[in-house]
Amino acid sequence: MAHQSALIAEDIEAYLKQHEVKSLLRFITCGSVDDGKSTLIGRLLYDSKMIFEDQLAALEADSRKVGTQGGEIDFALLVDGLAAEREQGITIDVAYRFFSTDRRKFIVADTPGHEQYTRNMVTGASTADAAVILIDARKGVLTQTRRHSYLVSLLGIRQVVLAINKMDLVDWSREVFDAIVEEYRDFARQIGLTEFTAIPMSALKGDNITDGSANTPWYSGPPLMRWLEDAPAQEDLREKPFRMPVQWVNRPNLDFRGFSGLVASGAVKPGDKVKVLPSGRESTVDRIVTLRGDLPEAVAGQSVTLTLKDEIDVSRGDVLASAAAPPAVADQFEATLVWFDDEPLLPGRPYLMKLGARTVTAQVTEPKHKVNVNTLEKLAATRLELNEIGVCNLALSAPIAFDPYADSKDLGGFILIDRLSNRTVGAGLLHFALRRSQNIHWQALDVDKAARSALKGQKARVVWFTGLSGAGKSTIANLVEKRLHAEGRHTYLLDGDNVRHGLNKDLGFTEEDRVENIRRVAEVSKLMVDAGLIVLVSFISPFRAERRMARELMGEREFVEVFVDTPLEEAERRDVKGLYKKARAGQLKNFTGIDSPYEPPENAEIRIDTTRMSPDEAAEQIFAWLEGAFDPGI
Ligand code: ADX
Repeated sequence: MAHQSALIAEDIEAYLKQHEVKSLLRFITCGSVDDGKSTLIGRLLYDSKMIFEDQLAALEADSRKVGTQGGEIDFALLVDGLAAEREQGITIDVAYRFFSTDRRKFIVADTPGHEQYTRNMVTGASTADAAVILIDARKGVLTQTRRHSYLVSLLGIRQVVLAINKMDLVDWSREVFDAIVEEYRDFARQIGLTEFTAIPMSALKGDNITDGSANTPWYSGPPLMRWLEDAPAQEDLREKPFRMPVQWVNRPNLDFRGFSGLVASGAVKPGDKVKVLPSGRESTVDRIVTLRGDLPEAVAGQSVTLTLKDEIDVSRGDVLASAAAPPAVADQFEATLVWFDDEPLLPGRPYLMKLGARTVTAQVTEPKHKVNVNTLEKLAATRLELNEIGVCNLALSAPIAFDPYADSKDLGGFILIDRLSNRTVGAGLLHFALRRSQNIHWQALDVDKAARSALKGQKARVVWFTGLSGAGKSTIANLVEKRLHAEGRHTYLLDGDNVRHGLNKDLGFTEEDRVENIRRVAEVSKLMVDAGLIVLVSFISPFRAERRMARELMGEREFVEVFVDTPLEEAERRDVKGLYKKARAGQLKNFTGIDSPYEPPENAEIRIDTTRMSPDEAAEQIFAWLEGAFDPGI
């Protein structure tokens, strides 16, 4: 079964050909170093003869040197390639390894077992067809076995092997094996894992790995390698309705307009009716173009360019789908989120969401609950921290085409990206669209912003003051409003302290409360701008992400950011409200500049250095800027 085919020497062409047509199975191994995971993978590579001679020589030498296996080959050394890992005895990142047998090719994702590495496991599992969950026969089902199984099931992997390893250390006891299987079955039922194959083995000694073992006459199932060879590769995506996210619009000249992408599911032929989503327009496929000529059909897994019979609008990120069975379109969802970042998920903060080829902005509501991955308990939460999993609602900036994750990993799985750092901060699985988003429409109104501001003879806008507590924001904003008022402008001043007495009196000063504070004020100022007013906003608004969100809510040039730049020492020296003193004394928690961050603006329209300018001078400068920037004619 193991394969180092004689064909390699005799007929390399024939060997390569044979290799090319073999099916591929991707699987993930879950467990910890102590369970013998690296040993198992090393054994699979060794038994399939995918280790090259020189690696083998080094391995034997290393095994003697490190000597954890008393002269026998230590397969774990092959896998735990990083020196640091060897010294610490842990595996730290996802490693993908390739091996093959006469019947099949394999890619195995080796992921670490430690709790803090949920992210790596999710990454490794996201493309896997099957999972091998390792158990140390001496220890049985552990917390981490439950956690791994939960993640595997969450990510939709339905083919699972329970590899009960180190059976040699429990005298090949059938009772031990059966007890573990029973315990696991109970748990598996709770997480919707109805089927799994349990295999008694010793990865170290090679029992039930490639061949059946004489030590387990009571076990009649397949050895691991045979199970892996027989497991159906990916669920048959070709059977599902046609979906192709458009990666790019291919327009080399005026006569050709094609839509390129990877067929995510189903099949498509010239003459098929397709729907473009989210717009909902329909057309008919004209040609399927590839570098090697036109195709009569394209199926899941192929990258192609489609041309359509009609000149309809299709952009990058749209989805081409079967007109008879199109995906749904919505802009609000319930989803499960797995948080990857050191910085927590903050409800209300806008993140970029990437699903298929589409990127939109998404705001996440407070989690409905988070899941304790060890006990499966549902817990209340206001945020998600690194490696936490929760169920949340999402509201997007624009509608997208989607399928529930249970139906399509491609159109139901997504990642979230931080807009400032560009880091991937989370991954999610869409459950369903929220009905309410389908039932709320925009009401067309005849009197609009332009009409309202024209009547007031001004251009509506927001002047957004940001800076530390005690920087002088409110003092200056107040003077600017007085000045504008005297000039006959229609204004309103929204001040942090004041708004926190009413609309926002339920909010405190944690990061999530500040995000929500600014989100509400930004929405209120948008309404006021719509009413035709010049709105002055005076809030610490410490985070760039939320100031940017406020800016994006407004129209072009409607948002004027004023950075009231007073150094912390100076604000603290003035300490008008005595709050710095309290904060330093530990009587006030989360105080901006002391134990809560302030992120200064990078591109504010106006910067006021209050150490060089009096409040009156500052107000005059802002007023002049605003008047000078007014559109002529208004
Ligand atoms: S923001 O950070 O959410 O934008 P906001 O401008 O609404 O803050 O409120 C700031 C005002 O609340 C400060 O000027 C100060 O008077 C008061 N305050 C009370 N506790 C705090 C705190 N922990 N951090 C900052 N300001 C506080």
